[in-house]
Amino acid sequence: DHTGTAVSGVGNAADTRLAGGEDPQTLTTRQGHPVFDNQNLRTVGSRGPTTLENYHFLEKISHFDRERVPERVVHGRGAGAHGVFEAYGTVGGEDIARYTRAKLFDTRGKETPVFVRFSSVIHGGHSPETLRDPRGFATKFYTEDGNWDLVGNNLKVFFIRDAMKFPDLVHAFKPDPVTNRQDGARIFDFISGTPEAMHMITFLFSPWGIPANYREMEGSGVNTYKWVNKAGEAHLVKYHWVPKQGVRNLTQPEAEKIQGKNFNHATQDLYDAIKAGKFPQWELQVQLMPDGEHPELDFDPLDDTKIWPEDLFPMRPVGLMTLNRNPENYFAEVEQAAFGTGVLVDGLDFSDDKMLQGRTFSYSDTQRYRIGTNYLQLPINAPKKHVATNQRDGNMAYRVDTAPGQNAHVNYEPSNMNGLTESAPSGEEHRPFVQGQLVRQKIDRTNDFKQAGERYRQHTEAERDDLINNLVDNLKDADQVVKDKMVALFTQCDADYGRRVSEGLKAAMMPEREAVAND
Ligand code: HEM
Repeated sequence: DHTGTAVSGVGNAADTRLAGGEDPQTLTTRQGHPVFDNQNLRTVGSRGPTTLENYHFLEKISHFDRERVPERVVHGRGAGAHGVFEAYGTVGGEDIARYTRAKLFDTRGKETPVFVRFSSVIHGGHSPETLRDPRGFATKFYTEDGNWDLVGNNLKVFFIRDAMKFPDLVHAFKPDPVTNRQDGARIFDFISGTPEAMHMITFLFSPWGIPANYREMEGSGVNTYKWVNKAGEAHLVKYHWVPKQGVRNLTQPEAEKIQGKNFNHATQDLYDAIKAGKFPQWELQVQLMPDGEHPELDFDPLDDTKIWPEDLFPMRPVGLMTLNRNPENYFAEVEQAAFGTGVLVDGLDFSDDKMLQGRTFSYSDTQRYRIGTNYLQLPINAPKKHVATNQRDGNMAYRVDTAPGQNAHVNYEPSNMNGLTESAPSGEEHRPFVQGQLVRQKIDRTNDFKQAGERYRQHTEAERDDLINNLVDNLKDADQVVKDKMVALFTQCDADYGRRVSEGLKAAMMPEREAVAND
């Protein structure tokens, strides 16, 4: 006599007991009352006033009035899928236990369920998926030791290296607070004072800023984390997702053509591929370096505006992810999914990357507001292992996190009355030595232009052409002081880069002058 649907696809069977003889298809209210008329308000005569005691109507309409939760402040538009991560049991063929004791990696063939949400960043929940934007690539690993979230993007680097600047960056890219339009003049007004963004800009305004879809795109953790082994020794680590489908990007004209017909093309592509059994796969690869400052490098390993050169820090495979199941309900699984950089498991750790530290506060802070205090009790966010906390109550508390046999009267620790107890980690704690003056300072090795110039030269001819066109198009309405500053920044990356943007901007002004001259 049980029915009900697993709303989230992650095992939340909302059981409904049926009264004798009731058809399981019978519409009910949330109170379980069978509904015999879902068409007509209860009124005094067919034309008379509506009564206010009409519980069925009030429940239906007031729930509808609350159907939306606040949109993510960034990454509002997204698509998600379930899948599995299979470990290789090694890192690039080497014994992985040397570097990390994280259990999800330790054995060849070990499977960990995952949920991935891809996204664009700036515009809202139904904005076109052809817009120029970094793409989010957030993965939740439901490991035997609890959840691990890897919250990254498709471009390996970021605009800024200090979390203090994130709200300014986002405001510059979001629509103008007066006109409600995204505006290249505002974007470059900000960027012209943010030289560390040049590497990211050189990616973003090239075709790399419009991936063809989510399947044919890379992912990267971007920030620097640590791996910790049994002895408590740490290595710095960067994570990368390499798509088995290859990488494909769109030029601006190609994107415009798609957008004219379909503004949901990336969501559709992912859903249709999985539905057709063409499961997309990504290999997880890492780059490692011993923990430390690495003064021999011309960049700081904690600087997320830099890539770690692959000839010095080779990509080492650790496992394969396959996305093989579409969500059953978009809101329950994709919209309510909550990822955060603070969500690590034993054997994975933070570095002092200043962006990473700022992000780690921000994600769970926004989720307590966006979804609610008990967002971790939702099936999509809850770990697939037992949870036993002394946290109680709060808005929408759905279950009590007690362990089997735990004394339900004890919601504190320590206790002598059969409460929850601490358990030891699986190895030595990583205990970095930290000493210094409290300051507000930039890192020493900013080196804002070298890798941006290398990126410019590594682009194909066609990518460079598209980059210059897009930069000129977005800069042409900016103030002259912004144009001059930007040309100076591009020139510091690469003389040819600066020259081409400068010439492009002059040419963009020409038609007006010619039109005047021809009059
Ligand atoms: C989403 C903050 C940098 C990738 C978000 C959200 C916030 C946020 C508040 C919304 C989360 C939610 O509502 O659930 C920040 C801050 C940053 C930062 C403060 C810098 C200090 C980055 C960087 C990356 C990134 C560098 C890429 C490596 C993402 C992704 C999402 C996201 C992928 C969407 C997650 C999802 O699909 O739900 N960020 N972010 N963010 N951020 Fe960041």
